[in-house]
Amino acid sequence: MSDQYAVIGNPIGHTKSPLIHRLFAEESQQDMSYTAIEGPLEPHDAFAETVRSFIAGGGKGMNVTAPFKLKAFAMADERSERAALAGAANALSFRNGRIIAENFDGVGLVRDIEVNLKLPMAGKRVLLLGAGGAVRGALLPFIAARPAELVVANRDVAKVKALAAQVATGDSLVACGYGDLEAMGRFDLVINATSASLTGELPPVPPGVFGPTGAAYELAYGKRLTPFLRLARNAGVLGIADGVGMLVEQAAEAFSWWRGVRPQTQAVIDRLTVPLD
Ligand code: ATR
Repeated sequence: MSDQYAVIGNPIGHTKSPLIHRLFAEESQQDMSYTAIEGPLEPHDAFAETVRSFIAGGGKGMNVTAPFKLKAFAMADERSERAALAGAANALSFRNGRIIAENFDGVGLVRDIEVNLKLPMAGKRVLLLGAGGAVRGALLPFIAARPAELVVANRDVAKVKALAAQVATGDSLVACGYGDLEAMGRFDLVINATSASLTGELPPVPPGVFGPTGAAYELAYGKRLTPFLRLARNAGVLGIADGVGMLVEQAAEAFSWWRGVRPQTQAVIDRLTVPLD
């Protein structure tokens, strides 16, 4: 029987992960299957039981999506540092009877920005919006990319300050509220990692953060021109992108981790891209 993998979430009908991993497996000639599992929301321990029965049936690894990333992290025997900072896992590997938790959301995002979009962050002014799970996953990979300045802004200022305090770093990381951004000038890259776009809302970011040589990145994907991307475009930024590349790159990180083979991503990104306009 081929090696078994799955993505687990609830709801799970919208997931692109089985398609992405099937394309990776075909291209790199890996003998594996990848399915989608709708995880149980109740009772509390039913999620862990579902994962354990998948392992008992020969499962080798899982991707984890909302709302189970925290539960997946909690049930692991070993956790990577970036998963530990996020307090959440988006990928699990099952090896020698142990469950290992990883979080590839942040590295996938950095790789999409730096490799696919050709926007290296080293020496740049980078603004990250939000302080939820997406930002917690992105923080360490962003710091590792060595921007000159990394500003993280959130509505709930205490929450973003507490998050920044968890990361030991010098003056290059600043946590603040949206009101503080007015005085900070333009950024080279502004990333919307809030969940505002999922409900068609706009984070209260002042248009002055966008500049004519800068770029704007929306973590949500397939939502076309969100209010955030529209604001950035109207403010005259050079480039705008949504999170389709991050989705494919985080999948590629998990695939490499599980299989020891790095798949090509560009053709898969092209296939999944929904035009912004
Ligand atoms: P959690 O914080 O429980 O992990 P999340 O969905 O990962 O949840 O995080 C949602 C993020 O989007 C938060 O940073 C939230 O801001 P607050 O912490 O201030 O609530 C942010 N967010 C959601 N809707 C927003 C909006 N309309 N404008 C700005 N930020 C918004």
